[in-house]
Amino acid sequence: MAFQLSKLTARLSLPKYCLQITENNFPRSLNSSRISVTYFPGSWYHTVSRSGVASLNITRVLNSYQRVINTVQRVEKFSSTSATAKSFEWLGIGAWRRVGKFSAPVALLLGLSATVAASSVHSGVLCAMAAQSGSDSETENTDWKKAKKEFLSMSLDERRKVYKTYVTLEDIPIWDDNAAASEEPLYKVDEELNKKISLFKGDITKLEIDAIANAANKSLLGGGGVDGAIHRGAGPMLKKECSTLGGCETGEAKITGAYRLPAKYVIHTVGPIAHGSVGEKEEQALKDCYFNCLHTATENKLRTVAFPCISTGVYGYPPEQAVEVALKTVREYLEKHHAQMDRVIFCVFLKSDEELYKNRLPAYFAKDVSSKSKL
Ligand code: APR
Repeated sequence: MAFQLSKLTARLSLPKYCLQITENNFPRSLNSSRISVTYFPGSWYHTVSRSGVASLNITRVLNSYQRVINTVQRVEKFSSTSATAKSFEWLGIGAWRRVGKFSAPVALLLGLSATVAASSVHSGVLCAMAAQSGSDSETENTDWKKAKKEFLSMSLDERRKVYKTYVTLEDIPIWDDNAAASEEPLYKVDEELNKKISLFKGDITKLEIDAIANAANKSLLGGGGVDGAIHRGAGPMLKKECSTLGGCETGEAKITGAYRLPAKYVIHTVGPIAHGSVGEKEEQALKDCYFNCLHTATENKLRTVAFPCISTGVYGYPPEQAVEVALKTVREYLEKHHAQMDRVIFCVFLKSDEELYKNRLPAYFAKDVSSKSKL
């Protein structure tokens, strides 16, 4: 349910939105960066100023604004704060932060570049809205859900304005370099499967594909390495969604939105902690990571997935052993599910891992070579 603005008219050239609102509804601060909403006590306007935000969708702002009102209405009703103008900033897709309290005249001068005034608002909508104030946790929960839905409903152009830098699937070449083939292939040549494999050296958080796998820890609440990079890139809503998943056991995989990342989804998995030595248990757990990530992707009808070198960083799994598990698991999965997957990208970060994969890919995804392949 959005504000039903019968008409938005631009009074001055630059974008700003006055939202007519019942006088008890304030947007409460949650976070900040892009839009400031200034509430003038007793007046019928909140003024929303935009700073450096490209082509923002007013409906999206109003929807987002409406949601925080549902929460704050309850809080502000009991607030002892004097009726002074309160400025809030919109974090982007569902979150706001209080910037401070200003007397109305000061607020009028604050960074407001133009005004688009709602010419009329259906008060019934506002009253219904004010009555829907939910609890903080409810609103917090709905924040990530609504943010996730909004990000996934955005057009590609709109999303690209959020994450700005990205690598498209077309920018990632299909693996086609068997020059390093050092020994007999372990699997028969299958050119169809070979077309589904890529080796990419770079930052997995930049890949504009269906899903990126995250080498997480059991809490799923972020950490260092690729886990930290993914959470930083996705923004705070990722952790909010992760906190509802109840953690993740080693070898399991759990899917979330990717929020501000170019990927649509993140599939979190927890690799085995090897610290140098690897037994059957660790090997099986790492195999489960790759298998369960692929299975989760196909379950969610996702067709392009990228993997970091799971467990080979902080968790100490020897990379030269991990590469065998990764390639074998992906090869065997694609043999059974090739129709459901368009591309699996091994996203390496270190030069040493790039060399390792270049040397071992020919064994698992052999090209049409002269020598007889071993079945
Ligand atoms: N893109 C792609 N790969 C990356 C990136 C990135 N932005 N950053 C790091 N990597 C690579 C590392 O170079 C390593 O090869 O990811 C691989 C996995 O390393 P870790 O991130 O340390 O993951 P892991 O060994 O599975 O340890 C998981 O570390 O970060 C914490 O919270 C995480 O507790 C968990 C543990």
